[in-house]
Amino acid sequence: MTDHILVERQGAVQIIRINRPDKKNALTRAMYARMSAALGEGDADPSVRAHVFLGVPGAFSAGNDLADFLVIATCGEGGNEVWDFLMALARSQKPMVSGVDGIAVGIGTTLNLHCDLTFATPRTLFRTPFVDLGLVPEAGSSLIASQILGRQGAFALLGLGEGFSAERAKAAGLIYDVVAEDALEGAVLAAASQIAAKPPQALKIARDLMREPREELVARIKAEAEHFRERLTSDEARAALTAFMTRKKG
Ligand code: COA
Repeated sequence: MTDHILVERQGAVQIIRINRPDKKNALTRAMYARMSAALGEGDADPSVRAHVFLGVPGAFSAGNDLADFLVIATCGEGGNEVWDFLMALARSQKPMVSGVDGIAVGIGTTLNLHCDLTFATPRTLFRTPFVDLGLVPEAGSSLIASQILGRQGAFALLGLGEGFSAERAKAAGLIYDVVAEDALEGAVLAAASQIAAKPPQALKIARDLMREPREELVARIKAEAEHFRERLTSDEARAALTAFMTRKKG
């Protein structure tokens, strides 16, 4: 358990709040594990009808904790927490709504590709600098982003690592809506409550149909993960991760 992930209930909505503001909500292995458990528990609990992901003001998530990555890069050791979380996202049984304010890097962007509705604020910047870190896209993003953005849009996001503002992300179909910072949580919870009030079985079937075939997504996440793990121990990744961890702030 970690208070870096806060799990709370509001009626039939389960809220998973990423809460590590001093590190811009970078995700550690323990945080992934807590989020996976919450998704699993919520999916198994008939009184939960929707999941919500939120961050802190100014930071949804700065992505995977780079210190954790560096441990894998230098010692080759790493657990299955990230994999388990990606599987929990891909196999989620109930609608997921996210609210993104500010920093949304790496998995802070790709998590939202699995959500049914994402709201973001005008100051949000979605960014996936995988290649700059010597890594490859993860979380099925190489498949989902291509489906949403087309080949060239996906290349801009995942290959060039270009930032997508909230407006650009909305115009491109990556997110559902842009709302002011002070309206974000209200908009997310209103959407989740609206979902929770729908006939759950009809909604589940409709959602499953829209997500088929899931096995294609799972296979892609697996293929990406194999490359990702190999890339983490590459010279390119070691150099990029070490540069971040030893950088001097000006
Ligand atoms: N992993 C570990 N620590 C991180 C982190 C990450 N992904 N992102 C930020 N942090 C830490 C910083 O090291 C810093 O810690 P410190 O205060 O102990 O030095 C703290 O969070 C604040 O970050 P800082 O860089 O000062 O904030 P910023 O607002 O200037 O910049 C970012 C925010 C997100 C742009 C910048 O931190 C960044 O580029 N982080 C790396 C993002 C990334 O590459 N993620 C992985 C994608 S696969």
